[in-house]
Formats: sequence, structure tokens, C-alpha cells
Amino acid sequence: MTEDWVHANFTDENERTDAQKAELALSDRLVDELIAADTLVIGTPIYNFSVPASLKAWIDMIARARKTFQYTANGPEGLLTGKKAYVLIASGGTEVGSDIDFASGYLRHILGFVGITDVTIVAADQQMMKGETALNEALADVAVS
Ligand SMILES: Cc1cc2nc3c(=O)[nH]c(=O)nc-3n(C[C@H](O)[C@H](O)[C@H](O)COP(=O)(O)O)c2cc1C
Repeated sequence: MTEDWVHANFTDENERTDAQKAELALSDRLVDELIAADTLVIGTPIYNFSVPASLKAWIDMIARARKTFQYTANGPEGLLTGKKAYVLIASGGTEVGSDIDFASGYLRHILGFVGITDVTIVAADQQMMKGETALNEALADVAVS
């Protein structure tokens, strides 16, 4: 994320310079990929109680004002409606859904923010404590989903 990126995004699409278009090219590609998808699958570990920086960087690329969300008189409105998301979360010790899990609630919120409200979270968590049980529980959850 750069100042030029932000400036390009706030410049009207028809008035963007070639440099500004290039600045937004990766974000455009990722947003188009998301628009074309019916189902989104995110597989992520918990890093330091939240999402890894690489996943956060992807979020920063797809949360695009006027493309994936917009602000209305009634507040923010997600534009990627009609999609289903599965979020598979692995952790060593942090219990998914606990007070110290800042990943699952955040992911549910940001997906809802861009309009994806049908979200199923599957936890393969606390692998250090549960060992193979964590995987078996996750597989059972996937079978139900
Ligand atoms: C930098 C780093 C930070 C981590 N932070 C946490 C954490 O806060 N809570 C947790 O339960 N596990 C944490 N883990 C463990 C991962 O969530 C765990 O290894 C997970 O299963 C990821 O699978 P992988 O290592 O096979 O990618 C961390 C791992 C790394 C490398």
C-alpha cells in the first residue's frame, strides 16, 4: 500500500494516468478474480493472534471503495453479494472463537464489509495441544459444511 496507490484509487477511473493504472493493476486483478468467483476459500494460520501479513496485504488489495464496498447514507454497503466463503483456520495454541482469537472475527467482519456474509469457519486449532484430533475435528466440520 503506497500513497500513490491511495491517490490513484481516489482518482476518477476515466482520469487515471497510465502510472496510476499500473499502480492499481494488481488490486484490479485480485478484485476481478473475486467478482468472478462464486465461492471463496481462505486457508490461513493464526500468526500472533491474528492473520498473517500476507493475508492482510490481500485484504488491503481487495477492499476497494466503489468496487467492493461503498458508503451510503445508511453506512457502508458491501458490493460482492451472493457469494459463499469458507475460512479454514489453523493454530498452534489459540482457540478459534476465544477472546484472544483476533483472526476469525476480523475475517468474518471484513468479508461482510465487502458483501460476503455467508461465511463458514472451520477450525483446525490448538494443534500443539490436540495433535491429530485438531485435524480430525476440522475434517468432520468440513464434511458437515
Ligand atoms: C510467526 C508465527 C506466529 C504464530 N502465532 C501463533 C499464535 O498467535 N497463536 C497460535 O495458536 N499459533 C501461532 N502460530 C502457530 C501457527 O498458527 C500454526 O503453526 C499453524 O498450524 C500454522 O500452520 P503451518 O505452520 O503449517 O503453516 C504462529 C506461527 C508463526 C510462524
